[in-house]
Amino acid sequence: MPPNKEVKKVTTNTLQKMKSAGEKISMITAYDFSFAKIFDAAGVDVVLVGDSASNVMAGHETTLPITLDQMIYHASSVIRGIDRCLVVVDLPFGSYQSNSDIALASAVRIMKETGAHAVKLEGGEEVLESVGRIISAGVPVMGHLGLTPQSIYKFGTYAVRAQTEPEANKLKKDAKLLEKAGCFAIVLEKIPANLAKEVSESVRIPTIGIGAGKYCDGQVLVMHDMLGINTEFKPRFLRQYLNIHDQATKAVRQYIKDVKSKDFPNEQEQY
Ligand code: KIV
Repeated sequence: MPPNKEVKKVTTNTLQKMKSAGEKISMITAYDFSFAKIFDAAGVDVVLVGDSASNVMAGHETTLPITLDQMIYHASSVIRGIDRCLVVVDLPFGSYQSNSDIALASAVRIMKETGAHAVKLEGGEEVLESVGRIISAGVPVMGHLGLTPQSIYKFGTYAVRAQTEPEANKLKKDAKLLEKAGCFAIVLEKIPANLAKEVSESVRIPTIGIGAGKYCDGQVLVMHDMLGINTEFKPRFLRQYLNIHDQATKAVRQYIKDVKSKDFPNEQEQY
């Protein structure tokens, strides 16, 4: 599909200007062409091809199993549905932690093979060298602090992070380091609202919260959670805008009934 030249595209500069102007940034995950097209047309600012695809698309318990090849498949599908959003793609577990050469090679593959605009990776000081190398290669990087699902087995729980002073101090330091390294934004996941406020005020770049309260410069939700496709996950921070699970179940039950009763297809629905 040729790009729509009339559309004003969202860039990392746009997000920076939004923060400066006090305009909140909307971000949502997407993993395929059709939903990406809906979200882009609806006017969302950023689409994240999250490694949460591992959970919501592939049914894994954690984000760890998804591969770089699978992320590339999802991201290239999403990109074909986008006219104006900024598209950020998660570097999956194992594609950047070992060293900065591997991290850079993974980021380059994502940019080259998907046409996405930026990558996201989890962690602070530990991944700083990789962040620097990726940015030096011209690839915008979004950081991710707080609850970092790729480290779930290290922490052993999805509970709220950075509730102790040492953990909060590390997070504040990591945010400053990521900003200094050149990240264009930072996701803050499941941390106390007042800590997110402090971090958001201390860095020039936008913070995007998920379970991090109202003071972040933007918000992100996983599409399956906010659209009620997945109804089992009901954390306090989630606002569910639709119940696709129930609506789809009802629709499919009706379809089954119509087929069994020979009501579908009728005269008008055949050739
Ligand atoms: O993978 C993902 O969906 C994410 C969001 C929760 C921020 O990283």
